[in-house]
Amino acid sequence: MRFNVSSLGWLTAGRCRIGASETISYNGVNGGVLMIKSIADAAILRNGVHMPWLGFGVFKVKEGDEVINSVKQAIRIGYRSIDTAAVYANEKGVGKAIRESGVAREELFITTKVWNTDQGFASTLQAFEASRKKLGLEYIDLYLIHWPVKEKYKETWKALEKLYKEGAVRAIGVSNFQIHHLRDLLENCEVVPLVNQVEFHPLLTQKELLAFCRENHIQLEAWSPLMRGNLDIPVLKELGKKYQRTPAQIVLRWDLQLEVVTIPKSINPRRIAENARIFDFELAEEDIKRLDALNENKRFGSDPDNFNF
Ligand SMILES: NC(=O)c1ccc[n+]([C@@H]2O[C@H](COP(=O)([O-])OP(=O)(O)OC[C@H]3O[C@@H](n4cnc5c(N)ncnc54)[C@H](OP(=O)(O)O)[C@@H]3O)[C@@H](O)[C@H]2O)c1
Repeated sequence: MRFNVSSLGWLTAGRCRIGASETISYNGVNGGVLMIKSIADAAILRNGVHMPWLGFGVFKVKEGDEVINSVKQAIRIGYRSIDTAAVYANEKGVGKAIRESGVAREELFITTKVWNTDQGFASTLQAFEASRKKLGLEYIDLYLIHWPVKEKYKETWKALEKLYKEGAVRAIGVSNFQIHHLRDLLENCEVVPLVNQVEFHPLLTQKELLAFCRENHIQLEAWSPLMRGNLDIPVLKELGKKYQRTPAQIVLRWDLQLEVVTIPKSINPRRIAENARIFDFELAEEDIKRLDALNENKRFGSDPDNFNF
């Protein structure tokens, strides 16, 4: 069954407006109240769709047994959100794991993304259909433009708007969009992106982008939240000792308290579980600030203003 988007409200806000006047309340940081306290907790997107704060990333997880076993393990532990992409070449396995998980489809939140070479209006619609079939799903929860391919992303966005209006996707968004890409898209889109998935971690804190997304009610989502495993940072170790947690847990908890959706990847069952044990402690405000201060504008992935793929 496809979703009736109009029943979710917020299909469009007329022309996209930067700096819309509605207010939005952020759960954790303001007032320091611990609101995100369960793996079942979710960000509520502007259209009312619930997107789990913690998701499971599967970049570089091999198609076949590796991805099937990892996703099933994650779902067993309680993850309900899976982040894949056409270019990861593991959508079939993700779909198989979902079907074999024993968890009802509507309890899961599945993200996939249109790859750069498929961007454009008609080709995006085709790519979506290919992803949907590989996943074996009737609808996708979140469909993203993977990278802001110049001269293409506006046409691609029109295709995503069409899929959204038709109810083939519950939410649409972008990935690797800088503020200027978002401004450009917001100038003449019909549906404001609901999510922006970007590289985000203590060495790349993206303060201005986070503020811009908050102002425009675009949920920020962190990719490579664990800096691809480069967690050997003294402050992380020190805070790990203080809170009796691992550096990975400290970083992921920091994401939650900044109200950034986070999607760590692991193929190791112990680490899959470790990365989900982040809902029963809270970082003090001064420690959030220490993590913020680690910023070096360092990227482990490509620069969205300078990529050649
Ligand atoms: N939109 C985009 O352009 C984009 C780009 C990159 C990634 N993503 C998404 O974001 C997800 C996460 O990013 P990522 O895969 O690049 O990197 P990541 O989640 O930051 O780090 C994954 C690496 O950290 C290791 N790891 C996992 N848990 C750990 C722990 N508790 N302690 C120590 N090491 C740990 C993993 O090894 P093991 O597997 O051996 O545990 C793996 O080598 C991706 O899987 C993908 O879904 C999106």
